[in-house]
Amino acid sequence: MSDVVGATGVYASGIVAAADSLVGGLRLPADKSVAHRALLFNAMAEGEAEVTVARPGEDVLSMAHVLQRLGAVESIGEGPAEFTRVRLRGGGTRAAALLPGAGGETLDCGNAGTAMRLLIGALAGRPGVATLVGDASLTARPMERVAAPLRSVGADIVTEEGHAPVMVRGSRKLRAIEHRLSVASAQVIGALALAGLAAQGTTVITSPGPTRDHTERMLAWLGAPVRREGYVTTVEGPAGFRARTIDVPGDISGAAAWLVAGALHPDAHIVIEEVGLNPSRTGIIDVLREMGADIKVASDGPTEWCPEPVGTIIVSGGRPLRAIDLSGDRVADVIDELPLIAMAMAAAEGTSTLSGARELRVKESDRISRVVEGLQAVGAHAEEREDGWIISRGTPRDAAIRTDGDHRIAMSFAVAALTGVAGTVEIDDPASAAVSYPTFWTDLEHLAT
Ligand code: S3P
Repeated sequence: MSDVVGATGVYASGIVAAADSLVGGLRLPADKSVAHRALLFNAMAEGEAEVTVARPGEDVLSMAHVLQRLGAVESIGEGPAEFTRVRLRGGGTRAAALLPGAGGETLDCGNAGTAMRLLIGALAGRPGVATLVGDASLTARPMERVAAPLRSVGADIVTEEGHAPVMVRGSRKLRAIEHRLSVASAQVIGALALAGLAAQGTTVITSPGPTRDHTERMLAWLGAPVRREGYVTTVEGPAGFRARTIDVPGDISGAAAWLVAGALHPDAHIVIEEVGLNPSRTGIIDVLREMGADIKVASDGPTEWCPEPVGTIIVSGGRPLRAIDLSGDRVADVIDELPLIAMAMAAAEGTSTLSGARELRVKESDRISRVVEGLQAVGAHAEEREDGWIISRGTPRDAAIRTDGDHRIAMSFAVAALTGVAGTVEIDDPASAAVSYPTFWTDLEHLAT
């Protein structure tokens, strides 16, 4: 894990207390989901392109370095003002880029689940042998959900009892399949869609519920025969597509920290510019508004970045929040924001519930346990359920917070302390925020007085 980037004050140590106010404007690091795809798809495409990523998190850099090892990245250089520019030369399905050697290549995905799962799908359709490895957290996460359907299309994939290291021996002769996912997952859909581009015929992937649609949007925009209708993704293979230069928009999952902090704090006014506003990602705005928060969204009009809608979000504090019950399809819309929403639940009037969110147990940490244990430690009322939690307001007190190295747990409890949901907290691994949000602590310093 890296050091806490640029933070000079007390926050760098992970100790956070209530702020007097939260006021200011921000631009966020690039969206992790979009950046992964912008890099990987250009590495698989024909032609050259440049991907511009603002303040990339460690996960995105893991993807860039894997692609560099596979010969598809020419340079990872500095752009203006904290932007990183990645130059890629894909060469399409037939060229040498992105072909692991026959002798096998070890590819380190770090903490990045999206990188590992998408890469398994991409490499399934290319000859060569690669072994994907990750850190302890990634090694604990389930990989059979990707490996099993890819075996049925003809790739040779070996996991360690369902986990990384994952060995992929790809093939240019994959079969098209119709596959019904047991868990709604954009990562699995993405992996199967990439393999579908190397398969002969029509691949049909059906999800049991909503998922983010960045894969389908971007592949179609690059000219690949991929479409999404409702919960069904269809891919016509075999097919290539063209590289295109991409500016990755700001990460709404990073913005979520400030949306919750701004909504909870009595004296807050935060303006966040150039944020990705893909409708499959904006559930956090709907949830906070339903709880009573004052959030305004201004779209940047027809401007679309690769092609994702982008705009400005303004949150103002001082309104009382009410409890909310979340279940069913609404959970998928805010899957990465649920730890932050838990902090809003602990500030609201009344008792809030979450159900149908078992997936939280297999994220970067067991997020149900980490959230409930942390909230109990800071004095809120929180009860653990197998697939969610029950939360209501308590009496804030100081506590040490265990993150298990999970960036979203670290940022959520920083928000709890800033807004008075918790007393002063000491976060055990503040540097973990850098996985998705390397400038989190400096942005906090900038906003908090
Ligand atoms: C992601 C999909 C989600 C999300 C993850 C990023 C993606 O996971 O939690 O942070 O970029 O496709 P699932 O695919 O498991 O739903």
